Amino acid sequence: MAATSRQASSVSPDAPAPVIVAIDGPSGTGKSSTSRAVAAKLGLSYLDTGAQYRAITWWMLTHDIDVKDTEAVAAAADRPEILSGTDPAEPTITVDGADASGPIRTQEVTGAVSAVSAVPAVRTRITELQRAIAAGAPTGIVVEGRDIGTTVLPDADLKIFLTASPEARAARRGGELKGSGGRPVDLDATREALLRRDAADAGRKTSPLRKADDAVEVDTTELTLEQVIECVVTLVEDKQQAR
Ligand code: DC
Repeated sequence: MAATSRQASSVSPDAPAPVIVAIDGPSGTGKSSTSRAVAAKLGLSYLDTGAQYRAITWWMLTHDIDVKDTEAVAAAADRPEILSGTDPAEPTITVDGADASGPIRTQEVTGAVSAVSAVPAVRTRITELQRAIAAGAPTGIVVEGRDIGTTVLPDADLKIFLTASPEARAARRGGELKGSGGRPVDLDATREALLRRDAADAGRKTSPLRKADDAVEVDTTELTLEQVIECVVTLVEDKQQAR
């Protein structure tokens, strides 16, 4: 049950201290694209924590564990080996040695992930992996998720909370689904599914989706992806200069 980072780890002795950036928010706000691009531009590692929750959910489904059975999910939470590669140019995720990057994006996993990620034993397990990966990032890391600023890395150097209107989020998610080769997407259904998942993520008892008190909120509704990236890069650079 190890966590790995496949990036090079040679850092010169007078290099600046690693910078930890937490980016949280609901789905469809541009979190993943923004986080990856910011990490790539600044030479940082990148961790998609949603992919880890999806990976453990996929493992539960493929091992015939009833994802509604909280006790069964909790009892199995330590069993899968989940490894995340943190190069923003090529993030990877494997479960028990198998590439999980395709299977974790299926509707079946998307429909089950809120239930699995609400189980405290699952959150404890995945949070440990996340902290180990962040601590081992040589130059720093951009970690995206729902509870990074509040729970996983409360001492992050910079916390960002991305938001967008439900319509903008549904349109973006619909575009992603179409782009991945699916049938034409029903935007109303996409919007309803997004809102249902957000409500489950924000309403759960353990580490709900919530803006940290000291997070900078960025509403991306009227912004292009490039504008959001630029905004976050500037915020990180300002932080680095102030240290
Ligand atoms: O970002 P995503 O849609 O791939 O995330 C999948 C699910 O994982 C999401 O519905 C909530 C959960 N999640 C979480 O509970 N905590 C995180 N830090 C990241 C994701």
